[in-house]
Amino acid sequence: MSKPIILDGKATSKQIKIEIAEKVKSMVAKGKRAPHLAAVLVGDDGASRTYVNAKVKACEAIGFKSTLVELEESITEEELLKHVEKLNNDNELDGFIVQVPLPDHIDEQKITLAISPQKDVDGFHPENLGKLVLGLPTYISATPNGILELLKRYQIETSGKHCVVMGRSHIVGAPMSILMGQKRDQGNCTVTLVHSRTKNIKEITKSADILIVAIGKPEFVTADMVKEGAIVIDVGIHRIEDNSKKSGFRLLGDVAYEEVAPKCTHISPVPGGVGPMTIASLLMNTLQAANK
Ligand code: GUN
Repeated sequence: MSKPIILDGKATSKQIKIEIAEKVKSMVAKGKRAPHLAAVLVGDDGASRTYVNAKVKACEAIGFKSTLVELEESITEEELLKHVEKLNNDNELDGFIVQVPLPDHIDEQKITLAISPQKDVDGFHPENLGKLVLGLPTYISATPNGILELLKRYQIETSGKHCVVMGRSHIVGAPMSILMGQKRDQGNCTVTLVHSRTKNIKEITKSADILIVAIGKPEFVTADMVKEGAIVIDVGIHRIEDNSKKSGFRLLGDVAYEEVAPKCTHISPVPGGVGPMTIASLLMNTLQAANK
C-alpha cells in the first residue's frame, strides 16, 4: 500500500486560527468588540491546567479576549454555581467553559445544566445536545466538531460509507455517531457504534470505511482490525513512561499507528491530529457565539 495522507490537525488548526484572526480584525475594524471566552478551572489538576492554558493562549493569539477563572479545589457546589450564574449574566462575555473533570464533591451534571445554553460553547448542555440530535444549529462539542472540520478540509467523501465509531462517551463517541449518520456534508454514513460490551469488534471494525476511535486504550486498534484503504481517525491520547525520551514520556493514541498507517488512505496521527483541532473548534464556537 502506498503512503497514507496524514490528517494534519496541527497545520489545519493553525490555518483555522489564521482565518478566525482575520475575521476578528474585521469585526474590530467595524467597531464591534472582540469575541470573549472565559474558562473556569477548579483545583490544580495538571492535565486540566495544561488544556485550559492552551485554550487561553489560543484566544490571545487570534485576538479574542479571554478570562481565566481559577477556583480552589475546596470550592462548594453552591459557590461554583454562583460563578456560573455570574458568567451567564455577563454581557461582555460570549461564551465560557467549565473544565472537567471537577472534584468529586461537585455534581458535574448540575454544573452543566446551570450553564446558559447560549454561552455553552462546549456544547455539553442537554439543550445543545438535543439540537444536535435534531440537526438544528447549535454548538457542536470540540472533538466531534474538530473531526468534522478535518474531514471537510481534507475533502473526504463520507456519503454512503460505513463509519464505525469506537466508544460511546457523551462528549465524543455518542455525538460523533449521530453526526456521521445525519444528512449533512460530512455525514450520510451508515454508522455502527461499538463499545466495551460489543461482541466481534474486529469483524465490525474490519468493515469500516471510516473508523473513528475514541475508546481510551493505548494502541487498542491493530492492523488486523482495519480494512485496506480505510480512513482512520484517532481521538485517544495517552502519556506512556519512556526513559529514552528527554521528557520521560511519549504520547500514544488508541491506534497502533506504525502498523495501521500503511493500510490506510488517510490517518490522523497522535500527537498532532485530532488534539489541536479541538481548540480550533472551541474558537469557532466562540466566534459563532459572538456573531449571534
Ligand atoms: N475536559 C476535557 N476536554 C474538555 C472539553 O472539551 N471541555 C471541557 N469543559 N472540559 C474538558
